Amino acid sequence: MLERHCILVGMPGVGKTTIGRRLANRLGADFVDLDAVIETEIGCPIRTYFEHQGEAAFRDIEARLLERALAAESPCVFSTGGGAVLRASNRRAMHAGGTVMYLRSSPEHLARRLRNDTKRPLLQVGDPLKKLKELYAQRDPLYREAAHYVVETQRGSVATVVGHIAMQLDLIRA
Ligand code: S3P
Repeated sequence: MLERHCILVGMPGVGKTTIGRRLANRLGADFVDLDAVIETEIGCPIRTYFEHQGEAAFRDIEARLLERALAAESPCVFSTGGGAVLRASNRRAMHAGGTVMYLRSSPEHLARRLRNDTKRPLLQVGDPLKKLKELYAQRDPLYREAAHYVVETQRGSVATVVGHIAMQLDLIRA
């Protein structure tokens, strides 16, 4: 049983959606993928929206829908977009609104996982590893600020990471 929202934050490609879905399943809670909620609201892929409206407009929608999602009464597992921590107000809302888990992985590992990605607008560049290193340098402190716990994902399987988070949530309750 989940007592508060569990919010997964971390870099693009770290596995927030896969891990979130499995975790929710294990806990018998609802799973909400905030990127999917945004795509339903804007009616097109995030990449298309970025191209036409720009990143600032996307961040406004992201902040608004994050706030709305966190207001849900029954505790859910949320996966967030990798840039959801960029605004201080989002970081505060997540930290106050549930238990925040930072799923951490290195830029090198993420670059290997994302080598064939075409969906993530920020990574459609000549040197995705360089971009991931820049994003990591900027965001790692922000993920840590938003989070209650840091979960290393690099060496464990999805099942191991899910087990680790579930155990951590149990410990909080105990
Ligand atoms: C973004 C990450 C994406 C999505 C958008 C912006 C980012 O989500 O929200 O493309 O700024 O890192 P994922 O973390 O699921 O890739």
